[in-house]
Amino acid sequence: MTVTDDAGVLRSIATRIASEAGALVLEIANERATLTSLRDDAVRKSSSTDLSTKADRASEQLIVLRLRELRPDDGVIAEEGSTQPSMSGINWIVDPIDGTTNFVYGFGSFAVSIAAVRDGVALAGAVYDPLRNEMFSAALGLGAHCNDVTLEPPPVAAPLAEALIGTGFSYRSNKRFQQAKLLTTILPRVRDIRRQGAAALDLCYVAAQRLDGYYEAGLRPWDRAAGLLIAEEAGYVHDDLDLPDELAETLVVTHRDLLSPLLGLLIEAAGLHQV
Ligand code: IPD
Ligand code: CA
Repeated sequence: MTVTDDAGVLRSIATRIASEAGALVLEIANERATLTSLRDDAVRKSSSTDLSTKADRASEQLIVLRLRELRPDDGVIAEEGSTQPSMSGINWIVDPIDGTTNFVYGFGSFAVSIAAVRDGVALAGAVYDPLRNEMFSAALGLGAHCNDVTLEPPPVAAPLAEALIGTGFSYRSNKRFQQAKLLTTILPRVRDIRRQGAAALDLCYVAAQRLDGYYEAGLRPWDRAAGLLIAEEAGYVHDDLDLPDELAETLVVTHRDLLSPLLGLLIEAAGLHQV
């Protein structure tokens, strides 16, 4: 079996499981009669702003169960804590709900994100938004799709001054302080900023031309693994920019024409000189 055939099989597994988990998350949301009961369900994780719900845990349980049935030799690394060592060399990186705060508030942007990774290289990924019934998926070398539509960048990008840029903020307040400071330089120099609250969807929205670019510092593997493959397979490019202090490891994803201007603006905003 070639690597690309293999990636296609892994993509089918990722989309199948993401679709099932997304349906479960939606069912749980619909069962909770009021938003208050969704909020009561939420417990704090790394900080008072970082939430986890029964739906996060139920979704993760389902995904891990299905992976064990279908891919017993593969490893698992999942946001809510499930881990399994890999015998095959493949690891599944799982975010059972990306956008948990949105989910808890009934603010409509959340998704299930699942990626298969070997030796640090993403082979396949699926990001499923159950509210919009949108399945974003990609397999290494086989392109990216939203449902049945092939995703690709426009031939030429808009200039940075006319670009809609997505970003996200950490759950840690000292990191947020620096992220907010960065924005004071960036916001006046672009069309506008979007903070959707779901990094996996932000990356898919770049792939789908709904954002011209996206950057965020300090993402975890489950926030970015599937979405970044989808953006790259669609034909977008990325850089991991090491800005100072709390902004180390800032992921930047955009059209190839915009990468250098966006990196330049971020470097300027962080108070660094471009080399
Ligand atoms: C968070 C979201 C958010 C991003 C944070 C992530 P979660 O994931 O993707 O948009 O800004 O960095 O941690 O907690 O909703 O799974
Ligand atoms: Ca999550």
